[in-house]
Amino acid sequence: MSQHRRLEGKILIATHNAGKLVEMRELLEPYGVTAVSAGELQLGEPEETGLTFAANAEIKARAGAEASGLPSFADDSGICVAGLDGAPGIYSARWAVDKKFDAAMARIDSELNAKGIGRDAERKGWFISALCIAWPDGHVEHFEGRIDGDLVWPPRGTAGFGYDPIFLPEGHVRTFGEMTSDEKHGLPTDGSRALSHRARAFQDLAKACLAK
Ligand code: IMP
Repeated sequence: MSQHRRLEGKILIATHNAGKLVEMRELLEPYGVTAVSAGELQLGEPEETGLTFAANAEIKARAGAEASGLPSFADDSGICVAGLDGAPGIYSARWAVDKKFDAAMARIDSELNAKGIGRDAERKGWFISALCIAWPDGHVEHFEGRIDGDLVWPPRGTAGFGYDPIFLPEGHVRTFGEMTSDEKHGLPTDGSRALSHRARAFQDLAKACLAK
């Protein structure tokens, strides 16, 4: 028997990011789960003091559950570069000072160059998405998705967001920045594995906690 708890009815999406909210609502809608957001309820934003993606997702989900009295859903994600010992990792958003991702991608390129890992060398990386659901009684559920790939330079494509233009997922010829959102985030209906880290984590969450 599954130890997982079902997520149903009304929930809180513990984010102030409008883009994430739209994506999360779309993912949850087919399961009859309706969502309000931390932004809409004007809840504060907790400090992300965790040292892992999962810890930061849990901080946000627990804060949301305590403040709203609703089951709360939160995510934390980022890109990890093998040649930089996993950086920027949980600091992915912070590397984009003033949300300038061109500069954050250039920093990855220049730090790899400085380590002797030039543009012709193999540059591996991966995205992680940690999802956490916290209930007001303290129960939590965790899910994590990962996609490995190569880091390309110069950046390619204008779709998506963040570090998408430098990430070439393994087995593919186009970067996330060159893919449609459906190719990147879509959930296959035939039961096969989704591509993006967030979609992969969500597939596991849906299987464990959402009723069809
Ligand atoms: P969070 O809002 O703290 O989870 O920050 C996530 C950071 O990682 C942001 O800077 C994003 O741009 C980056 N990131 C996470 N997922 C993706 C993705 O799918 N594509 C590109 N960048 C991503």
